[in-house]
Amino acid sequence: MDLEQLNSELDTLRSKTAAAVCDLTSMDEVRRLESQTTGKSGTLGGMLGGIKEYPPQERGQVGETLNQAKGELAALFKNAADRIRSTAAAAEASKASSYDPSLPGARPPLGTFHPVTLVQQQVEDVFQRLGFLVETGTEMETEYYNFEALNIPKLHPARDMQDTFWLTNGKLLRTHTSPVQVQAMERHGPPLRVIVPGRCFRYETIDPSHENTFHQVEGLMIDKHISIANLIAMMKLLLREVFGRDLKVRLRPGYFPFVEPGFELDMSCLICGGDGCGTCKRTGWIEILPCGMVHPNVLRAGRIDPHEYTGFAFGLGLTRLAMMKYGVADIRVLNSGDLRATVPASRFGGPTIVAKD
Ligand code: PHE
Repeated sequence: MDLEQLNSELDTLRSKTAAAVCDLTSMDEVRRLESQTTGKSGTLGGMLGGIKEYPPQERGQVGETLNQAKGELAALFKNAADRIRSTAAAAEASKASSYDPSLPGARPPLGTFHPVTLVQQQVEDVFQRLGFLVETGTEMETEYYNFEALNIPKLHPARDMQDTFWLTNGKLLRTHTSPVQVQAMERHGPPLRVIVPGRCFRYETIDPSHENTFHQVEGLMIDKHISIANLIAMMKLLLREVFGRDLKVRLRPGYFPFVEPGFELDMSCLICGGDGCGTCKRTGWIEILPCGMVHPNVLRAGRIDPHEYTGFAFGLGLTRLAMMKYGVADIRVLNSGDLRATVPASRFGGPTIVAKD
């Protein structure tokens, strides 16, 4: 190869290397390409090793040319290395400057409880402190426990009070939590204090204050000498605990075959403050608590002697209580999955629900 050829090869090597170094992104890549180019067994290294093939008078010139090329190539690699180092340093620096340890952390979305669950927990808490058991029963019930054991025989007109979803297996979806009354009597015997929170079902047309699926809490207290006075005291205590203040209530006679005497306990409507609205059917009162003294036939069904023991029972409308407590005007919101009908976890105490109208 004469000097001219050598120069042209060096030009090609220089321009190829100059292009190649632009694409390098790491120090490892720089080192690899450098050794392939100017290393001992690299392209230029090979040319340097070939100096002795030239006639002695040309060797000085060839050596000088090769050394100059080597210097230029080394400069290309140094520039690439500098560029890569400074890019890495800049990335580090920007990472450091965007990290501010004094900023508050990202707040993950927090799940909350359903209003009915909140009220249920509260009711359970009040009664557990008073020594009541908490039982749940089953949502699918037998006709016997839902009706017959509760002094509602077949063909009794009271069956029409609770339109029933009958199942093809002859059972039914419980229309109230009362079926657990006789079950609890059978299981535990007297004296007995039990509450039964749970879901109930009625074959009803739904409107702002009626749902076909709703929650109740049954209460049952049986002992010697239990009277209506115990019942009233307990109900007042419950409402005071749930609402944090004494509420206006009224008792009306009410008919349920499984209690005698039976009552309807109403509380003043908290949606309208007693003025009358859609929720309270313009009466200013909300029926919240049917109750009464356990009928002797029901005690007998639970194998308890009505001459020795008496008791009271109540069926608290848990869904309605939640509506009052959290200001939900339309019962349908609660089963709608509308997330606005949940109570922010930070505000478990207050009425914060947006209701559909
Ligand atoms: N189970 C009755 C209902 O759902 C309510 C009730 C319970 C009434 C206990 C009196 C005593 O309508």
